[in-house]
Amino acid sequence: MNHILVTGGAGFIGSNFIHYLAKYYGADVTIHNVDALTYAGNLANLDNLAATNYHFHHVSITDRDGLNRVFRHPIDCVVHFAAESHVDRSIHDSGPFMTTNVLGTQCLLDVAMAHSVKQFIHVSTDEVYGSTQTGYFTETSPLNPSSPYAASKTSSDLVALAYYKTFGFPVRVTRCSNNYGPFQFPEKLIPLMINRALANQPLPVYGNGSNVRDWLHVTDHCRAIHAIMTSGSDGEIYNIGGHGERDNLAIVNTILSALNKPQSLINFVADRLGHDWRYAIDYTKIQRDCNWSPSIDFEFGIQQTINWYQTNTAWLDTTGAHA
Ligand SMILES: NC(=O)c1ccc[n+]([C@@H]2O[C@H](COP(=O)([O-])OP(=O)(O)OC[C@H]3O[C@@H](n4cnc5c(N)ncnc54)[C@H](O)[C@@H]3O)[C@@H](O)[C@H]2O)c1
Repeated sequence: MNHILVTGGAGFIGSNFIHYLAKYYGADVTIHNVDALTYAGNLANLDNLAATNYHFHHVSITDRDGLNRVFRHPIDCVVHFAAESHVDRSIHDSGPFMTTNVLGTQCLLDVAMAHSVKQFIHVSTDEVYGSTQTGYFTETSPLNPSSPYAASKTSSDLVALAYYKTFGFPVRVTRCSNNYGPFQFPEKLIPLMINRALANQPLPVYGNGSNVRDWLHVTDHCRAIHAIMTSGSDGEIYNIGGHGERDNLAIVNTILSALNKPQSLINFVADRLGHDWRYAIDYTKIQRDCNWSPSIDFEFGIQQTINWYQTNTAWLDTTGAHA
């Protein structure tokens, strides 16, 4: 797999994945990045990229002609991250989520299949399973999405699997828990709270802050996708998680204490509509079949991440959302 096309490579996880590929393969890989550069896409995420063979294509995954032009390049493997990704925005207006996440994925699958791509990794999410009070989601747990974002991701996840079942197109699906790390747009919990705390602004916490997420460092997510590329099987679904369960209030308190800021900055606000209470992932399958486990301890990773945002205030400026 020497020619890899990454969609959404100017976003948070996609850009981390491109950095990961460049470091891992050096000059042995050609990387194509297809990104529409929405508000969440930021080419500054790829400054200082250590890649020799890197090509950026400013194309939407809903643009069939544009994609056909990109696929004139030889492409072996597609890793599909591009999506509208923020739950709150999907509650406000679900239209772009259906267009990009569902129809865009279908368009990309069609074009990739027409060009006989050898591997297609569809990056889905643990949010397809909905919320659970107890236990852990396995790959066979029922799909029960809550938000329009999660419903659009569930739809695209099933469309991708249908292309495997119907056409034998070599799709692999990943369902990962919440990521944290560098280059995350400061509307998501961790960078939002760091950004606001640094500016001594109130930190809006939904409800009573008791919602639980399983946090995984973005580098571990990149390692997991790479393990699935090299050791996974077509038609399979892989859960990816960190066993790093924390409630939102614990995350906010960790950030405040690392930045030496007072708890009085916390501002409890009305809960998000349909807010899932808990996500929890069983990652036994990827551990067994792809020899992957998380490597970054949450307590270490979160301190490193807080330091990164504290140091990279110039990057925060490039997002247009610096508090
Ligand atoms: N962030 C998480 O914690 C998490 C966890 C599990 C799965 N995921 C999934 O991983 C993927 C990446 O998430 P992220 O947090 O990096 O998202 P992000 O919002 O940071 O980045 C999304 C990227 O996709 C691009 N994009 C949006 N619409 C596009 C279109 N029509 N055509 C081409 N590019 C388009 C944006 O410009 C941006 O660069 C998503 O599919 C998301 O559902 C995210």
